Amino acid sequence: EEQTSPTSSSSSPPPSSHFIGRKEDVIQAKRVTKLVGGRDVLVLCHQGKLHAMDMRCYHTGGPLQEGDIEEFDGRMCIVCPWHKYKITLAEGEGLYQAVNPSATPPKPTWRSKGVKQRVHQVTEVNRDVYVTFNDSPDTIDSDFYQTERYRATMNKA
Ligand code: FES
Repeated sequence: EEQTSPTSSSSSPPPSSHFIGRKEDVIQAKRVTKLVGGRDVLVLCHQGKLHAMDMRCYHTGGPLQEGDIEEFDGRMCIVCPWHKYKITLAEGEGLYQAVNPSATPPKPTWRSKGVKQRVHQVTEVNRDVYVTFNDSPDTIDSDFYQTERYRATMNKA
């Protein structure tokens, strides 16, 4: 199965992209979070590849920048530190293990809940890193944690 890479290179930043930082700095920091264009995004470098997604977990807003990166079912995922939800770096899919109770012994298999976390496109221009928002009009579960309403709740807490 082909996986499309969200990273691309070009000679000038794409229109309506947001500057994140120098690639060296992102690599050194491993994780960078930045509020750009009204969204808190997480940019990370894993095995030489840059990925970007909304920073707060689609489940209840956990800090994905503190999550470990692990492979499940051959797919690289960030594991949310709060309740260990697994999110694919490339697509933002939520993965879970399903158990078929009629199988003996019951054998867990990995399944996808579909895209739950909004992942963004990363572009590198002369070793500067830019993020272009994924502007899919469909609501993605993680969007809630990027709203003013959610921020207002957070500020009261
Ligand atoms: Fe991320 Fe619950 S908030 S798993």
